[in-house]
Amino acid sequence: MKILAFGGSSSKNSINKKLATYAANLFEGGDVEILDLNDYELPLFSVDKEKEIGKPELAGKFLEKIETADILVISVAEHNAGMTVAFKNIYDWASRQKKEVFANVPLLLMSTSPGKRGGASSLEAAQISLKWYGGNIKATFSLPSFDENFDVETGEISNKEYDAALKDIIRNFDYEQNA
Ligand SMILES: Cc1cc2nc3c(=O)[nH]c(=O)nc-3n(C[C@H](O)[C@H](O)[C@H](O)COP(=O)(O)O)c2cc1C
Repeated sequence: MKILAFGGSSSKNSINKKLATYAANLFEGGDVEILDLNDYELPLFSVDKEKEIGKPELAGKFLEKIETADILVISVAEHNAGMTVAFKNIYDWASRQKKEVFANVPLLLMSTSPGKRGGASSLEAAQISLKWYGGNIKATFSLPSFDENFDVETGEISNKEYDAALKDIIRNFDYEQNA
């Protein structure tokens, strides 16, 4: 079973990448691959830029990666109450090659931020958007106040209640492809 995970951010020390990595490794018997959105950096999408450069190979590679996965774990970062440009950009480019960007792969959609809402607005925006583009959202999880609730040394959620809640979600995760 292949689990593909990434943070919806291009920050080198992305807290969402850390959370996605932790969650992906909680799936038992999974072969985990972590993507870095920096490897999928493209010019800012516009229809004019698209006319100029066509269908970028990188966007095709992003789509191929997603298609290889049995489970997707995405943790979206929040910038100004929405998804980051880094995530939205590769998403937009990819959607021009294939509408079902997230390929109906069972998806654990998460978010975190240093704030008390844990990126809840970005998570909500992603929920609304991804479901129209092959996002087969099986469960969501938001970790508030990242710095207080996640131990970056061990790479684990340090708050026992949040940790138990995430483990519960993963234990009961519905692997079925159908939405
Ligand atoms: C331009 C900008 C806007 C931000 N807006 C929000 C916000 O609306 N809500 C929030 O909780 N955090 C916000 N933050 C803080 C981010 O949540 C924080 O930088 C976090 O580390 C981003 O996730 P990442 O490390 O995975 O990139 C913002 C940060 C930046 C740089």
